Amino acid sequence: MKPIDLRSDTVTRPSPGMLAATMAADVGDDVWGDDPTVNRLQAVAAEITRKEAALFFPSGTQGNLAALMAHCERGDEYLVGQMAHAYRWEGGGTAVLGSLQPQPLEQDADGTIALERIAAAVKPHGPGLGTHLDVTREDVDRFVAAVQTYFAEVAR
Ligand SMILES: Cc1ncc(COP(=O)(O)O)c(C=O)c1O
Repeated sequence: MKPIDLRSDTVTRPSPGMLAATMAADVGDDVWGDDPTVNRLQAVAAEITRKEAALFFPSGTQGNLAALMAHCERGDEYLVGQMAHAYRWEGGGTAVLGSLQPQPLEQDADGTIALERIAAAVKPHGPGLGTHLDVTREDVDRFVAAVQTYFAEVAR
């Protein structure tokens, strides 16, 4: 199977068919929810990820920031791989814009963080100690059942 790298428009180029589809797409105002193409994309994304709803973001950096801000409150800490894009390559956006504190952890060769390492990094909760935490792992090119199983274990 030939993998398709969907991480960024820096690693993909639109084919003539994709460009033609873009030019011919039905468009509208996304704020009013009347862009039929975006609405369809979000509906398909929600369906294939088995979520209630999905939101389209035009860049990975924006999507990562929005996802972390949606899951955390100001002052929260999130556990993140040392090599994760959101931690390493996004200009500290979660701290600058989201008031979130990253707790970077060493990753294994497959990109996961060992469950014991996650458990050891969880700090006590309470006033002055930060509140809850979120574990992030973004890896669309390897978004397979194994990752979902891993996250199910992390969530326990
Ligand atoms: C894993 C990963 N996440 C996020 C991004 C950022 O995507 P964008 O350039 O669309 O902001 C990249 C870009 O290379 C990436 O490799």
